[in-house]
Amino acid sequence: MGYLMLLVVRVVLCVYMFMMFHFACLSSHLCHSQDSSALLHFKTHFIFNPSLFDYDYHYDYEYEYECPHVYPKMSTWENGTDCCSWMGVTCHSVSGHVIGLDLSCGALVGNIHPNSTLFHLTHLQTLNLAFNFFNHSPFSSQFSKLVSLTHLNLSNCGFQGDIPSQISHLSKLQSLDLSFNRGLMWKETT
Ligand SMILES: *[C@@H]1O[C@H](CO)[C@@H](O)[C@H](O)[C@H]1NC(C)=O
Repeated sequence: MGYLMLLVVRVVLCVYMFMMFHFACLSSHLCHSQDSSALLHFKTHFIFNPSLFDYDYHYDYEYEYECPHVYPKMSTWENGTDCCSWMGVTCHSVSGHVIGLDLSCGALVGNIHPNSTLFHLTHLQTLNLAFNFFNHSPFSSQFSKLVSLTHLNLSNCGFQGDIPSQISHLSKLQSLDLSFNRGLMWKETT
């Protein structure tokens, strides 16, 4: 009887250990490889130029106020390392998909093309690109591909042109900040 009890305890312990191990594996899940490569390709389109935050350049206290700490977050993005540990990147704890990207106050200079790999990150729930310099890139309708978005902040990004009507297809969106982009306007739809 004692022996049987011991066996039961051992089996239970074993199952428990397996589950623990399994969960441990999941919680330390590496970044989804497609997301990792999308981010690395995205990175190649930008340079870090904190001098653009100089007071003289913008005549604008807002940058100093909103961005007291400008840091090249993308410098921590290196191929071969887990993208979930990169600055500005948040992953889903189980799937390893990138669900959050915060590159605000990044002093990034470059363009966001319609074929940017940013738009491959379809699991993104929050995206914050505020206070960067996207060279008057047109505001791409491709943002509407990020169907999981709940929060989108593209303020002070240097986007230009019309706000694509496709943005309204983001059915989960709870907040949208497009303030302080040059010449950005809602397109009249009739
Ligand atoms: C990352 O490194 C691997 C192996 O060296 C390479 O095959 C892959 O193309 C690299 N990915 C990117 C996005 O540079």
